[in-house]
Amino acid sequence: MAHRWINTLTHDDVTPLAAFMNRRSVMAGLAAGVGLAGIGGAAQAQDALEPNSYEDITQYNNYYEFGTGKNDPAANAHMLTTEPWSVKIDGLVDKPGDYAMADIMDAMTIEERIYRFRCVEAWSMVIPWNGFELADLLTMAGVQTDAKYVAFETALRPDEMPGVRFPVLDWPYVEGLRLDEAMHPLTIMATGIYGKPIPNQNGAPMRLVVPWKYGFKSIKSIVRITLTDKEPPTSWNKANAREYGFYSNVNPEVDHPRWSQASERPIGGGLFAKRKPTLMMNGYADEVAGLYDGMDLKVHF
Ligand code: MTE
Repeated sequence: MAHRWINTLTHDDVTPLAAFMNRRSVMAGLAAGVGLAGIGGAAQAQDALEPNSYEDITQYNNYYEFGTGKNDPAANAHMLTTEPWSVKIDGLVDKPGDYAMADIMDAMTIEERIYRFRCVEAWSMVIPWNGFELADLLTMAGVQTDAKYVAFETALRPDEMPGVRFPVLDWPYVEGLRLDEAMHPLTIMATGIYGKPIPNQNGAPMRLVVPWKYGFKSIKSIVRITLTDKEPPTSWNKANAREYGFYSNVNPEVDHPRWSQASERPIGGGLFAKRKPTLMMNGYADEVAGLYDGMDLKVHF
C-alpha cells in the first residue's frame, strides 16, 4: 500500500508514471541516498487514492494560532500576512541566512503528491499537495556532517494570530525531525493544494508534510529551520509528554492514552461514514519502516 506519485503542477495534468519514476529515482538517489529499489517498490505498491474535496481540506483544520475550533482557521487565517516571507535557515549548515520565499520557489521543483493525512485525533483525509522535497531545501543550505536533527518554528504574530492570546500551547509552535526522516523523499514542504497556492489556514506560504506521522508533526507557516545535533523540543510533547512523543509515527498498535488509534474517521463521507482501520505508518511502512529498525515503537511513540 502506498501513495500515488504525480510530478505535475495540477491535479488534472498527469505525467506517465514510467517517465516520472525515471526522473524521480535519479533525483531521490542524489538527494537522499535512496536507490532505485526503494522508490520502484513504492511505485509498484501504489493504489489509487481518492482525494478529499478542496472544501473539506480548507474548512476543517487545526491551526491553534487562529483558534481551537475546526472552522476557526478558515475564519481567521486571512489576517496572516504571507508576502513577503522569509525563512531563516541556521545551525549546522554551510550557508546560514534568511532565505526569501520567492527565491526558494524559484530554486525548487514543485510536484504534486497525493498523501494520506492522519490526525492524532483519529480523523483522516487524502490531500493532493503541491510542494518540493525538504531534502532539496536542506541540501541547498548545505547540511554539515554533525547535524542529526532538524528543528522547525512557526511564525508568532500576536497582531495577526488571535489564538496566541491563549496559552493553549507554549508559542511559537515548534516541531522537529531526525535528519534521516527530514531527508526522506516522502517528506515535503507543501506550498499548494489542488494546484492552487496553499491557503493560510493550511499553513501558507510553506508547511511541512510528513505523511507517515500524526498530523501535528506537519508544522505550518514555517519561519525558521535549524539543523542541530540534539533532539529539539516539540510543542505537543512540551504540553503533554505522556500523550505525545517525539516520533509520533502513525501506529494502530499503540493507542493514545485516552483513545484507540486502531481506526480513523474519514472526513467528508457524511455523518454516518464508516470508520476504517488505520494502517501502520499510515500506509507508508514499506518506504519508512527501515528508519526505525531496532527501535521499540511503544517506547519511542
Ligand atoms: N502547525 C501550527 N503552527 N499550529 C497548529 O496548531 N496543528 C497541527 C498541524 N500543524 C498545527 C500545526 C495539527 S494537530 C494538524 S492535524 C495539522 O496541522 C492539520 O493540518 P490541516 O489543517 O492542513 O489539515
